[in-house]
Amino acid sequence: MERFQNTGQPDWDWWSKLWPTPGATLWKLGIKSGESVAEVGCGSGYFALPAARIAEPGSVYAIDLDEALLAELDRLADQQNIGNVVPIHGDARNLTAVLPERVDTLVVANTFHGIDDQAGFVQHAFDAIEPGGRLVVINWHERPRETTTVGGEPRGPPTELRMKPGETEDTVLSAAAFVFDRQVDLPPYHYGLVFER
Ligand SMILES: C[S@@+](CC[C@H](N)C(=O)[O-])C[C@H]1O[C@@H](n2cnc3c(N)ncnc32)[C@H](O)[C@@H]1O
Repeated sequence: MERFQNTGQPDWDWWSKLWPTPGATLWKLGIKSGESVAEVGCGSGYFALPAARIAEPGSVYAIDLDEALLAELDRLADQQNIGNVVPIHGDARNLTAVLPERVDTLVVANTFHGIDDQAGFVQHAFDAIEPGGRLVVINWHERPRETTTVGGEPRGPPTELRMKPGETEDTVLSAAAFVFDRQVDLPPYHYGLVFER
């Protein structure tokens, strides 16, 4: 298993300054009660844990190749009494093999920029989502890294890996038969794109 480029889990101190209300972000992006969700590259669960609270009683499959981050996610889920999150140790390149079932919503947060074969990933994602389900991509805006500061420090992936919303949309739509639904502004530095399968 090999990590995608520039996809280390951010420290929660500055991450929580940038995303004070991850649950509200997921609501905006259409995550609903009762649906099944998978998050690819979930890290220690900054989005997967609030997703589990929203999706309950639906399952949230939290996929990452870093076992230490998954152990932390598991510990936090126990501490917060969240019983519907399922940590999965695996490579997102083998999405259909690592997921036990197709999901209603697949979330890729702060990870898409680093995927080596984005078209191949999108094709697997299409197969991993139920017909009528959704793919949600959260990306950093394509701004110079030195201008995306949090706590006085430049943050996020290198400028050259960042993607404009239109570029992400074209990459997804040219790889598989998704239909573009909407773009959601996630200030100050992010956007979300929702695709229907
Ligand atoms: C930038 S972090 C984002 C974490 C979380 N999605 C968030 O937004 O808070 C990217 C995560 O993707 C994981 N990752 C990188 N390459 C991966 C791969 N090939 N398969 C599964 N997870 C991967 C990393 O271990 C890391 O936890």
